[in-house]
Amino acid sequence: ANGVFTYDPGFVSTAACESKITYIDGDKGVLLHRGYPIEQLAEESDFLEVCYLLLYGELPNAAEKEQFSSMVMKHTMVHEQMVEFLKGFRRDAHPMAIMCGLVGALSSFYHDSLDITNETHRQITAHRLISKMPTLAAMAYKHSVGQPFMYPRNDLSYGGNFLHMMFATPCEEYKVNPVLARAMDKIFTLHADHEQNASTSTVRLAGSSGANPFACIASGIAALWGPAHGGANEAVLKMLDEIGDESRIEEFVAKAKDKNDPFRLMGFGHRVYKNFDPRAKVMKKTCDEVLGELGINDPQLRIAKRLEQIALEDEYFIDRQLYPNVDFYSGIILKALGIPVEMFTVIFATGRTPGWIAHWHEMISGSYRIGRPRQLYTGPEKRDFVPLDQR
Ligand code: SDX
Repeated sequence: ANGVFTYDPGFVSTAACESKITYIDGDKGVLLHRGYPIEQLAEESDFLEVCYLLLYGELPNAAEKEQFSSMVMKHTMVHEQMVEFLKGFRRDAHPMAIMCGLVGALSSFYHDSLDITNETHRQITAHRLISKMPTLAAMAYKHSVGQPFMYPRNDLSYGGNFLHMMFATPCEEYKVNPVLARAMDKIFTLHADHEQNASTSTVRLAGSSGANPFACIASGIAALWGPAHGGANEAVLKMLDEIGDESRIEEFVAKAKDKNDPFRLMGFGHRVYKNFDPRAKVMKKTCDEVLGELGINDPQLRIAKRLEQIALEDEYFIDRQLYPNVDFYSGIILKALGIPVEMFTVIFATGRTPGWIAHWHEMISGSYRIGRPRQLYTGPEKRDFVPLDQR
C-alpha cells in the first residue's frame, strides 16, 4: 500500500496452522476426516461415529461406539434454569442469536469442569456440547413458535431425537420416519468439520487465549452466522424464492456475473474448493431420497437443478471454478423436513460442533501460544496532535 509492497488481503487471512483432523484438496474435490473420505463416512457411518472419529482419531469398535453413543444420548437434557434464560429472548429473536447466548451460558452450568489443563474436564465439556446442541437448537425453535419444549428421548437416534424435539408436542407424538432421521443424521455428518474455515479458525483463536470451551464454541457460532459462511444455506432458499421461476434463472445468472451488482449465486463458490464440493454430491443424492420419500415435487428443487446445470455450463463460472457447495442443496432438504429457514444455520452449527471441539482439543492438548495475527499498517504516518480550536 505504501509502495514498498502490495497488500494481499487474501494472504493475511489465510495464515496456516497444523492439524491432523481434516484434509481438503480443493482442486480435486477431496475431503478426508482422519483419512476417511466424507462420501464413505456419510453413506456407511453415522454422525456419532464421525464425532468419535474427529475427537479420537480412529473409528470406534462396537463396544466403543455403544459406550460413546450411550454417554452422549444420556446427557441430552439441559439444566432447567437454561429454560428460564431462554425465555428472556423475544419470540422473534433469530435462533442463531439465541444459540450464541445459550452455548456461552453453558459455561456457568459447568463451572466445575472448566479447567482446560485437566483432560477429564476437556472430555466432559466436549461430550456435553455434542449432547446438548440439538436440545438447545430445538428449544430455540419451540420458543419461536410458542410451543412447550420437548424433552429429549434416549431411545431415539441422534437425528431422530432432534426431529422429535423439534416437532413433537405434549398433545401429539412425532413419529420418526427412519428415512428422514437418517437424512438428518447425514446432514449433521456432512457439516461435521471442514479444516480451518472461518468459524473453526475463530474457535481456535478464542481457545488460544485459554477461554473455556463453551465460550470458544459460542464464538464459532457467531462467526458461522454470516451469509458468506454458514448463513449461505438460508441465503440459498431466499435466492430460490427470489428467482421464483425457471424462466428467470438466466436473469439472475447475469446478475451474478455483473461486477456492479452485489448479487452472488448463494451456494456456489468456495474459498478452497475449485472443483465440486464432495459434500454437495452427497447432499444432492440425499435431497432426491428425502423428496422421493415424502412425495414432494418441490419447484425450488427444479429451479436449483436447472440453475446448477446452467451455471456448470457457463464460462464465467467455469473460468472461476465456481461449483455448488455444501449449502446448495441442504436448504431444500431441511425445508422438506419441515424445518424453517431461520433454523438452517443452527443445524449447520449443530453438525459442526464436533469439528470445532476436535480443533479446540487438538490445540489445547498440545503446546500452543495465544493467536496474534499480524497486520500490514496502511494508515497515516506519525503526526502531532492539533488542538480543537485549530481544527
Ligand atoms: C461455507 O471455508 C469453508 O470451508 C466454509 C464451508 C465450511 O464447511 O465451513 O465450506 C462452508 O461457508 C461454504 C460457502 C458458502 N457461501 C456461499 O455459498 C456464499 C456464496 N459464495 C460466495 O460468497 C463465495 O464463493 C465465497 C465467499 C464462498 C468464496 O469467496 P471468494 O473466495 O472471494 O471467491 P473466489 O475468490 O473463489 O472468487 C473468484 C471469483 C471472483 O470474481 P473475479 O473477481 O475473479 O472476477 O468468482 C466470483 C468472485 O467475485 N464469485 C462469484 C461467486 N463466488 C465467487 N460470483 C458469483 N456468485 C458466486 N457465488
